[in-house]
Amino acid sequence: MRKQTTILNIQSMYAKGDKITVLTAYDYPFARIMDQAGIDMILVGDSVGSVVAGYDNTLPVTMDEMVYHTKAVMRGSEGALVIADMPFMSYQVDQRDACINAGRLIKEGGAHAVKLEGGANVADTVRAIVNMDVPVVGHIGLTPQSIHRMGGYRVQGRKEQQAKQLLKDAEALVDAGVFALVLEGIPADLAQQITETISVPTIGIGAGVHCSGQVLVIHDILGLCEKYSPKFVKVYADLAPLIRQAVESYVSEVRDGTFPGDEHSF
Ligand code: KIV
Repeated sequence: MRKQTTILNIQSMYAKGDKITVLTAYDYPFARIMDQAGIDMILVGDSVGSVVAGYDNTLPVTMDEMVYHTKAVMRGSEGALVIADMPFMSYQVDQRDACINAGRLIKEGGAHAVKLEGGANVADTVRAIVNMDVPVVGHIGLTPQSIHRMGGYRVQGRKEQQAKQLLKDAEALVDAGVFALVLEGIPADLAQQITETISVPTIGIGAGVHCSGQVLVIHDILGLCEKYSPKFVKVYADLAPLIRQAVESYVSEVRDGTFPGDEHSF
């Protein structure tokens, strides 16, 4: 039986320089398998909108959907620290909304922490949620909920001014109380600079090797997103052809009467 990972464990890994491992999960079976494999933290990402629901982006994902997926992940996870994403429009309008919605992910979903996107502009919101004793993870750089402002999924912080702003954002979020910070889609040397400047672990996705830990989307590393594959993804198992093959075998065996056999019948 795995012992529950807490934010104190994450802080102590960070202090020792141990790399922190994070993957997304959206349901019971995936959460169970990755928990058994020893992942440190599971992120119930709003990427569920793209990789599970098939939307073009994460914007349509609702609070009710996040609560549903968080509950499923919690039932599968035993030892990983589970972070639930706050979806678009669940924290942008006012701090009261943000606190209520963060509270739902903890109280109804059962998550141990929440994550929200944005820099200095959301620092007061982060502070309000942290003041309710809800641990918060920040997320800066390529923030998918800002797709329309960014004009697509583009690497951020390549220009000096933007890089300076991202460093300021990171500092503002740490000051507001985040216990970890996701750095997405930024140059590796900027991620290194942020990691060396701030006092909480950075979790990189498309941000190079110098971050305190890494996060990837589970469907990406299992080859289940055939529509696109960003440069930062490594496919550890190419499952789509295997699944297709299994379904083709089933279809053909049902059609030719080979399945069910005597061993599958009562
Ligand atoms: O929603 C998500 O999966 C995320 C990760 C890509 C960091 O926010």
